[in-house]
Amino acid sequence: MKFDHAKVVHVYYKPLEDKIFVGRLAINNRKIFFEYDASFLEKGLNLSPFKLPLKSGVIAGNDYTFDGLFGVFNDSLPDGWGRLLLDRTLIKHNINPGSLSVLDRLCFVGSNGMGALIYEPEAEHTASITHESLDQIAEQIVDFQEYDKDQYVEDLLNLGGSSSGARPKVLMHIDNEHWLIKFPSHVDLKDIGAIEYAYHLMAQDADLYLPKSKLFPARKGSGFFGTKRFDITDDARVHMHTISGLLHADHRNPSIDYEMIMKATMHLTKDIKECEKQYRVCVFNVLSHNRDDHSKNFSFLIDPNGTWRVSPSYDLTFSSGPSGEHCSMVMGEGKNPGIKQLLELATISNIKKTDALTIINEVKSSVSKWPSFAKDAGVSTSSTKLIDAAIAKIIKDNL
Ligand SMILES: Nc1ncnc2c1ncn2[C@@H]1O[C@H](COP(=O)(O)OP(=O)(O)OP(=O)(O)O)[C@@H](O)[C@H]1O
Ligand SMILES: [Mg+2]
Repeated sequence: MKFDHAKVVHVYYKPLEDKIFVGRLAINNRKIFFEYDASFLEKGLNLSPFKLPLKSGVIAGNDYTFDGLFGVFNDSLPDGWGRLLLDRTLIKHNINPGSLSVLDRLCFVGSNGMGALIYEPEAEHTASITHESLDQIAEQIVDFQEYDKDQYVEDLLNLGGSSSGARPKVLMHIDNEHWLIKFPSHVDLKDIGAIEYAYHLMAQDADLYLPKSKLFPARKGSGFFGTKRFDITDDARVHMHTISGLLHADHRNPSIDYEMIMKATMHLTKDIKECEKQYRVCVFNVLSHNRDDHSKNFSFLIDPNGTWRVSPSYDLTFSSGPSGEHCSMVMGEGKNPGIKQLLELATISNIKKTDALTIINEVKSSVSKWPSFAKDAGVSTSSTKLIDAAIAKIIKDNL
């Protein structure tokens, strides 16, 4: 592993074959600075309108939510699983992870990050490929997580190091498509893959905007949940930005309300259809008990012409937030949001009450069919019952 601390990092936007110079990041005395390149300013493409407006001159990172880094670049940094893999690899090479600045970490992302931003100089790390199948990757993850064996850590880093999110995952090219495949962590229910796939089927039925997803078969257990990446095809990459990065809202602390998500959606997309799309996700999360609905679980995509859209929805599954509440409150209510808050949210989002009620009823009808999606996905009887009871309680108490 070759590594030098970075003082300056060049940022590029690479939607297609040619990379476009965006600007320079610099670090001085642990303070971060960014300056757009004049050629990029001329394009008028605002990659992060709320926290990094398009303007000339040096902009200092005065907000320490992400160690002074601007949210749009923080979105490129792996957290959870990817960060753990890099840190363990560094330790293996006698490098103290604590000595890395956020710019150093961007160099490890290099050209392999999610979305369309790339960073130079790119840190070199190579790994031999030691797996032959998803089952073998799952075994390496168990060895790493449960038995603290770091023999395969560089291989795992190569496969999933630039992804974000807590759960173990890999990024793979399969049959000319780019996939993100998730594996159970040691604390997860054994059928977590099947549960997420059943939620995908349920969300599909509820007419959410979704990436293609499937359950990859596993030798042991119910399968690995895979989702086709919407930020990349073979010839194009799409700039994606999370609500966390857009608003500088740390996803580890419950810091936002769906009101902010809806307002950001209105501001960015200026399209009522996009707002209705986002609203449907909120209703689905409330009615299906998806409470790990933190600020990194909502993203927007911008095309090279500057049009923002709500991204396909991801990480839809049975989950609980802090003390069982939603990570994102619905009009101030995190514990038990219901019809009252959902209708208030519709009002501030300029969604007509009749349209909101239609969405709520459609989603309610889909989540009421949970056992049938669970059966199709191969969810265990105990998980099916647990989730069925949780959904039934939400509907009984709040609708
Ligand atoms: N289909 C997809 N296409 C592109 N990016 C995706 C897709 N699905 C997820 N992502 C990105 O990968 C990240 C991790 O995915 P996901 O949220 O499903 O993982 P997780 O480990 O379960 O997350 P969490 O830490 O929220 O539990 C997301 O925050 C999102 O940025
Ligand atoms: Mg997530």
